[in-house]
Amino acid sequence: MDQAAAIKALIQLGQLPTADKVRELTSGLQHEEPELLGLKTSESRIKIENKNSSVEVLQHFEWKPKKVTIQDFTSYFRKRYEYMKNLLMSRAETENATSISKLSSMVGKTTIVAMISDIRKLPTGTVKLALEDLSGTTNAIISVKNPELAKKIPFLAPDEVLAFKGSIGKGIFFVDDIIWPDIPIKQRQNCPEEVYAAFTGDIHSGSNMFLPKEFEKFIQWLKGDYGDEKMKNIAKKTKYIFVLGDLIDGVGIYPEQEKELHIKDAAGQYDLLAKYFSEIPDDKHIIIIPGNHDALRLCEPQPTIPKDLAAPLYKLPNVINVSNPAMLKLHKQDDYPGFDVLMYHGYSFDHFVDTVEALRLAGGYDAPDKIWEFLLKRRHLAPTYGATLALPMDPDPLTIRQVPDLVASGHIHKAGFGNYKNVLSVSCSCWQSRTNFQVRVGHKPEPAIIPIYGLHDGKAMMMEFM
Ligand SMILES: [Fe+2]
Ligand SMILES: [Fe+2]
Repeated sequence: MDQAAAIKALIQLGQLPTADKVRELTSGLQHEEPELLGLKTSESRIKIENKNSSVEVLQHFEWKPKKVTIQDFTSYFRKRYEYMKNLLMSRAETENATSISKLSSMVGKTTIVAMISDIRKLPTGTVKLALEDLSGTTNAIISVKNPELAKKIPFLAPDEVLAFKGSIGKGIFFVDDIIWPDIPIKQRQNCPEEVYAAFTGDIHSGSNMFLPKEFEKFIQWLKGDYGDEKMKNIAKKTKYIFVLGDLIDGVGIYPEQEKELHIKDAAGQYDLLAKYFSEIPDDKHIIIIPGNHDALRLCEPQPTIPKDLAAPLYKLPNVINVSNPAMLKLHKQDDYPGFDVLMYHGYSFDHFVDTVEALRLAGGYDAPDKIWEFLLKRRHLAPTYGATLALPMDPDPLTIRQVPDLVASGHIHKAGFGNYKNVLSVSCSCWQSRTNFQVRVGHKPEPAIIPIYGLHDGKAMMMEFM
């Protein structure tokens, strides 16, 4: 964690960011193992079955409120380091790994597994890293003279844990290669029957810019009353509808938002949405996570949308509310192992599009598949602390421990598909035209598009409702 992130975390905790406290946090990995935290993760396995479909909740996170201390954050970073280290140490390339404290006695090539605590680009293009493991710290140099290694520089992000291959000289570690934790190639089996999953979110109910005509077309399509015969057949066989957060526009989310609200209270905004969702046939599961516009805390994991404000949505028999993030298994049957979906609203995407050079060069918000590839390679939804407001839970809900078949996100209001090592990524469109805020930040949304995935044939398609 760098100084800015440490200060932010302390303010979040309601504590004065004194020099001592900031120092304690920024050197977090070498802190003594704190007492076990009073934080609990609930990974329930709830199964909801219809006649020809099923949803099993594999990961849903609940946070029991308690006073969070600096030690909680220290433990959080330590455990994340240990998890990533174990992943990296299982690779053949890290066979000769050593700890930073033993580097001074090493001769020749070696490997260390370390967290990046600082990245500095020198005028020559050479990059100086501050690295840290549980035994100590070291400075490392990445020279641009090695073209293959230089290509990896724009992908580096603070706080990520990597394996560095290289050698020590005059107290500095000279890097020859970098290895990310990464995911293995995913093996996937097609479902024996024709069945589809549809992905939506960012409805922003209550906004002046909400698109009711287009959203009604989508609901009519799900009812089998819109589109040609092919579209109607897909609608009939769509059993799973994922809603990736920002169900409502919310209240007080950005300055002067009230001028852009058609419904000025969160309960009214959820009511409107529930009216639309109540028309969706009961044989379709609607799986909902919250986003940063919903009426709850920003800290992740975010709990389910609030029961008091969104009561009409909770009354719908086919709605499943889970946390952000969450993992679900679809359609498991005797002859099919099921299909695992990781849902994440995507709040951290803004930070990485803004700060990671390689993502900006790849297209930024226009390339959500590259953002997902970046996160899957790091096995984490927000590898840099401060990319999102993360609660220091154990196990960390933002760590991607189980590799899903598909990852889905919203937030950036752009529809897209991707495939990284056979894990499909889906980015959702929205139901809101361009807001003044988006004009100011130069963001161009693409509304009223539904990404659809066929579990039986592994094919993805986009359906437009403009
Ligand atoms: Fe949104
Ligand atoms: Fe959002």
